[in-house]
Amino acid sequence: MNVQNTPEKYEGKHTADATTVEEGLAIQEEQAKYDDDFATETAMSNTLLTPRFYTTDFDELDAIDVSPVRGEWDRLIAQMEADPNKGHFKKNDDWDTVDWENMEPQLKKEFIDFLISSCTAEFSGCVLYKEMKRRGNNEDITRLFQLMARDEARHAGFINDALREAGLRVNLGFLTQKKKYTYFRPKFIYYATYLSEKIGYARYITIFRHLQENPQHRFHPIFKWFEEWCNDEFSHGEAFALLMKTDPKLTKGKNVLWIKFFLTAVYSTMYVRDHQRPAFHKALGVDPDWYAHEVFTKTSKLSEQIFPITLDIEHPRWQPGLEKMQKANADLAQAKEDGRFFAKLGAQARAVSAFVSLLLIPAKKHQVPAQTRLEPAY
Ligand SMILES: [Fe+2]
Ligand SMILES: [Fe+2]
Repeated sequence: MNVQNTPEKYEGKHTADATTVEEGLAIQEEQAKYDDDFATETAMSNTLLTPRFYTTDFDELDAIDVSPVRGEWDRLIAQMEADPNKGHFKKNDDWDTVDWENMEPQLKKEFIDFLISSCTAEFSGCVLYKEMKRRGNNEDITRLFQLMARDEARHAGFINDALREAGLRVNLGFLTQKKKYTYFRPKFIYYATYLSEKIGYARYITIFRHLQENPQHRFHPIFKWFEEWCNDEFSHGEAFALLMKTDPKLTKGKNVLWIKFFLTAVYSTMYVRDHQRPAFHKALGVDPDWYAHEVFTKTSKLSEQIFPITLDIEHPRWQPGLEKMQKANADLAQAKEDGRFFAKLGAQARAVSAFVSLLLIPAKKHQVPAQTRLEPAY
C-alpha cells in the first residue's frame, strides 16, 4: 500500500473532508512528520487484547454476488454515498479546551491507552477495507469497501487529532508497513468484522447517551462526536449483515458454532480490556460491569438480524466466567512483568478454562427475520 508519497496539495487539509480513503491517508501521512514513537509502539503491540490487522482471501470476497439482497444493498450504498458525515470529524467550537497537564495521571494514562487502541482499531478496518477495494474487480464489493475505508480513515484521523493535543500521534503509514497481519478466511472476517462494527456502535452510543444525561462526566470533547460516529459503524455492520445474507450456509449448521465462538471471544475480550481501565470508567461515571451488560444486550438484539443464536448473558455462569477470565488476565500480565514463567502458565490455563466454560453455556435460539436491514434505534 503506497501511502508514503504525500504531495504538497494535502498540506493544510483535514481528514474529515476527504472523500476517498486515499486522500484521507495522504493527509495523515503529511501530518506524520510530527509522529511520536510511544504511541506508534503501543499501536504496534500484538497481544490477544490489542487490536490486530487482518488479511484474507480477497478473491473469494470479490466473487460474492449481492443479487439476492439487491434492494436492501442498493439502499444502503446510496445512504453511504450521500455521505451525511462528510466534514463532521474535525474540531470545531464544540471542542472544549482539554487540560492534559492537570489530568489525573492514572486517568491520563488509561485515556491515552483508550485513544491509541481505538485509533489502531479504526485503522485496522481502514487497511483491510482499502486492500479489498484495491484487489477486487466486483463493482458492488469494491464500491462498498471504498466507502467503508473512507469512513475509517476519517475516524482514525480524528482520534489522531485528539492524541496530538497530548503530544502523541500514531504513525499510520508505519503501521501499514510494519504491523503483523493475521490471516482470517473470509467467513471469519464476516463474523469478526460484523461483530466489531455492531459492538462498536453499541459502545459509542451507550457512552454518548450516558453523557447526554450526565454531562458533568464528559471529561473530553471527543465524546460529543460519538453519535454520528456510531452511525457510520452501524452502516458498516449492516453491510456485513447483507454480505452474510447472500450465502445462507454462513449462518447455518456447524457455522453456528463458529458464530458462538466469535460472540464469546468478542464479548469477553471487551470485558477484560475495559476492566483494565478503572480510572477511565470512573471519570465517565460508568460502572464497567453495567456498561458491559448494556453493550452486550444491545449487540445481541442487533445481531438477531442475521445470527440465529445469541449468548445467554443472564445465565448464572456468564458473569462469574467473565470475572474469572479478567482475573486470570490480570495475573497473567503481572506474571509476565515479574518474569515468573510458571505463574504465567497457570494464569494462561485459567484464562482458557474460563473461556471454555463461557463457550459451553447454552445459547438462545431464534428465528432470523426475512428482512435484514435495521436503522440505529438506541
Ligand atoms: Fe470506525
Ligand atoms: Fe466501522
